[in-house]
Amino acid sequence: MIYLDNNATTPVDPRVREAMLPFLGENFGNPSSPHAPGRAAREAVEQARGQTASFIGSKADEIVFTGGGTESINTAIRGALAAQPGKRHVVTSSIEHSATKNLCEQLEREGCEVTWLGVDAGGRPDLDEYKSALRDDTAIVSFVWANNETGVLFPIGEMARAADERRIVFHADAVQAAGKIPIDLARVPAHLLSLSAHKIHGPKGAGALFVRSGLGLPPLMRGGAQERGRRAGTENVPGIVGFGVAAGLSAAALGSEMPRVAQMRDDFEKGVISRFPAARFHGDPGHRLPNTSNFALPGLAATDLLAALDRLGVCCSVGSACVSGSPHASHVLRAMGVDNEEAKSSLRFSFSRMNTGADVQGALAALDGAVRRLGLGG
Ligand SMILES: Cc1ncc(COP(=O)(O)O)c(C=O)c1O
Repeated sequence: MIYLDNNATTPVDPRVREAMLPFLGENFGNPSSPHAPGRAAREAVEQARGQTASFIGSKADEIVFTGGGTESINTAIRGALAAQPGKRHVVTSSIEHSATKNLCEQLEREGCEVTWLGVDAGGRPDLDEYKSALRDDTAIVSFVWANNETGVLFPIGEMARAADERRIVFHADAVQAAGKIPIDLARVPAHLLSLSAHKIHGPKGAGALFVRSGLGLPPLMRGGAQERGRRAGTENVPGIVGFGVAAGLSAAALGSEMPRVAQMRDDFEKGVISRFPAARFHGDPGHRLPNTSNFALPGLAATDLLAALDRLGVCCSVGSACVSGSPHASHVLRAMGVDNEEAKSSLRFSFSRMNTGADVQGALAALDGAVRRLGLGG
C-alpha cells in the first residue's frame, strides 16, 4: 500500500505506540486519584503537557487536552462567545474545515452574525478586507492556518496581530499546520489554537487547545474539575501520552524531514505534469504546506479515479475526508473560483515523513494505470 492521505490521518509512529502501551496496561490509574497509580498517570499527563507546549512555544499551563481538533475548535469558538455575552459577531473564512464551517452555520441559526471572508484564486485572503471585517461587537475571529484540502497557508501572524490590536479574541485552527511548519506562539499573538494528535503520527481522539494566559474561557461541557476546570471528564491518558510523544517527535523532525517531504511532493507534481499536461493545480504554490498536492484531471471524475487508485493500492482523497462520498464539490475549491466540474475532478495527495521516493514513483505509475483503466487520456 502507498499511503498518500496524510491530511486525513497519519500512521501512528511506533515510538508513540510504545509510549502509550503501558497506559493501556499496568499504568491504568486515574490522574485525579491521589494514590500511587493515580500519581503516575498525573505525572505522565503533565509530561505530555510540557512536550505539547514546547511544540508550539507556549507555557505548559496554557495547554488544555481535548478529544481532538473538532472539540478544541468548538470549545474555542463557543467559549469566546459565552465569555462575552454582549458580542454576537464572528469572523471566519469560506474555506474552513467542516468543524468550523458547520459550527458557524449553527451559530447563525442561533442568532449570531458571521462574516465569511472570501479567498482569491490561490486560496488566500485579502488582509484589508479582513481588517475591515473586525468590529467592536466581534467576539472571536477563527481561521484555519493551513487548509486541509489545498495546504494553502493563511498569514496567521499578521491576522492575529490585527485582532490583538483591537482586543478581539483570535483562534487559529492549526490542526494541519502543526508538524509541517514551525509554530511559535511567542511570536504569533493568537489567543487560542487548536491541535490534533492524529495528524502528527499520534493517536486519534486526542487533541489540545492552547488558551493564552489570562483569557477566561468557559468549558464546553460541565463536569469534573479536570484540566483545571477547563475540560471536564477523565483524561484520555494513553491518548495524551501518545500526543505528547508525537509532538516531541514532530518538533525534532520538522527541520530535517519537511524539506524531504516537500521534495517528494514537488517530484510527484513534476511527474503528474509530464504525464498529464492538462492537470490543473490548486493553491498558491508560494504559500502552502510542504506535503499537500491538490489538482484536477479535467474530464475524469475524482471519485472514480480514487476508487481505481485504491484498487491499485494507492490511498488519496477527494476533497477532505469528512466530505468524501458526498456528491457536492469541495466548498474550498468552489470558494477559490474553481468551477463545479473541475472541483469534482480534483484529487488530494498528502505526504508525510513516513513516505519515501519509491512511494512517489509507485503513485505516479498507479495514476498512469488508473487513468488508462478509466479509458481516458491525460
Ligand atoms: C484543518 C482541520 N481542522 C480540524 C480538523 C478536525 O480534527 P479532528 O479530526 O481531530 O477532530 C481537521 C481534520 O481533518 C482538519 O484538517
